[in-house]
Amino acid sequence: MQKVVSSRRADATPHAASLIEGLRDIGYSLETAISDVIDNSITAGARRIRIVTETFAEEPHIAILDDGSGMTEEELIAAMRPGSRNPLASRDEPDLGRFGLGMKSASFSQCRRLTVVSRRDGNTSAAVWDLDDVAEHNEWAVQLPDDISQIPEADKLGEIGTLVLWEKIDRLSGGFVHNATKRAEVINQRIAETERHLRLVFHRFMEDAKPVSISLNGRRLPPLDPFARKNPATIADPEERLSLIRGDVEIQSFTLPHHKQMGKVDWEDIAGPEGHLKSQGFYLYRGRRLILHGTWFGLCRQSELTKLSRVRIDIPNSMDADWKIDVKKSSAQLPPIVRDRLKKVIERIQDGSKRTYRKRGQKLVDHERLPMWHRIQSEGQIRYRPNVEHPAFADFAESLAPDLRRGFFNCIALVGASLPIETLHADMAGTAEDIVPDRVDEDTLAQAVQATLSVLLGARKDMKEIMSLMKDVDPFRSAWDDTQRIIATTLDEKEQQ
Ligand SMILES: Nc1ncnc2c1ncn2[C@@H]1O[C@H](COP(=O)(O)OP(=O)(O)O)[C@@H](O)[C@H]1O
Ligand SMILES: [Mg+2]
Repeated sequence: MQKVVSSRRADATPHAASLIEGLRDIGYSLETAISDVIDNSITAGARRIRIVTETFAEEPHIAILDDGSGMTEEELIAAMRPGSRNPLASRDEPDLGRFGLGMKSASFSQCRRLTVVSRRDGNTSAAVWDLDDVAEHNEWAVQLPDDISQIPEADKLGEIGTLVLWEKIDRLSGGFVHNATKRAEVINQRIAETERHLRLVFHRFMEDAKPVSISLNGRRLPPLDPFARKNPATIADPEERLSLIRGDVEIQSFTLPHHKQMGKVDWEDIAGPEGHLKSQGFYLYRGRRLILHGTWFGLCRQSELTKLSRVRIDIPNSMDADWKIDVKKSSAQLPPIVRDRLKKVIERIQDGSKRTYRKRGQKLVDHERLPMWHRIQSEGQIRYRPNVEHPAFADFAESLAPDLRRGFFNCIALVGASLPIETLHADMAGTAEDIVPDRVDEDTLAQAVQATLSVLLGARKDMKEIMSLMKDVDPFRSAWDDTQRIIATTLDEKEQQ
């Protein structure tokens, strides 16, 4: 039992104006702020969510409309209260909210005037938080306007639903207070940048059999599945389930298709502005809403080896306390049991990718496959050395006088020894698939083709086999059309001889 100590009590009610201003700076971005408002719409059962922006007007605004359950006036007033619910109270399963702060703090992070209009059972109510008004009166009091017809976008509300309206969007104007055109440009640009975030964060709802549609100024946003599950080349591992006291955690690993197995648009869409390297990792969903992605939670590095690995983790919202989900729902910490399991998942992924890479390595050193480079692995080190026995080199060396021949082999060895390893490392860490073999000119290619062809024909290989051997190695692979043409002309010439 707590010891009773006699004490006096003093009123310490927060100073409304400063506390509410403080709510503005808890670190929301436009993306996370809009997402938080949309969370409420989804919790309210909305199927159609519309984001409508007016940026060129004298007083620009952003509106988010839904067709969810709506609120009565009493509920609306409760909803406007910062801290409207206790985060420790158990929530209904589909509820995406938590602290009873989201709508307010998300809105104030972007605007100084928040109006919520809600319609339910034929009654329409409206309430306004205006930070300038709070500052003036220093009172925790919302305004209840009688006439909603003056509220922008309120006419777009359907029979039931809610409008969240942001006015005085000072934070989005990029400092352009008087230059309306410039200001509109800045705001529009920022809004356009939120699109991908919304498509990703809510993709599961957008993909449902009865989907939630989210539109931006009349254009419906398509879902963005970070695991490219519709692509047949995506590899999905079996789902694992971890049963904990407060609910089940589901884990599933995916390997995205190689960029050659995906259209360029899809590849870039799924990579996002950060690129694939930074987008690998865990994708943590709470109540099917993506809250965190593109991190291995410090369990391993984001490396080129695991670049195409993404792991879905699903947690119910009953686990918030264990995962330390914050108000913005954009960060979380791992409970130790889950951490151990995820370590195993990562080990498996790393083993798998090493195997794939090794396979490719073997292909490279396979003698049948005429490599220009040998991959030599010894004493824990890997070296690349030009293959001087490659027909293109050997053939030419044959034609040289012995003293010139030595010089020629020296030159080749020098090229091998000065491979720009550090630059390659740096480039690999960026976008590895942008590193491509250099193009060779026609004459160089022709010499290599002719030399190779004559060696292979001499070894009595048939044309089909020769083609399949050459097709797999550079420089032929990356100039395959030209190579085929040169083969055809060479064979023609041989026939005529
Ligand atoms: N679009 C909406 N439709 C219906 N009710 C809403 C809507 N937005 C907010 N609410 C109500 O307002 C409350 C407070 O919302 P919010 O400040 O985001 O906190 P939380 O989502 O954590 O409860 C919600 O719990 C809900 O009851
Ligand atoms: Mg909320």
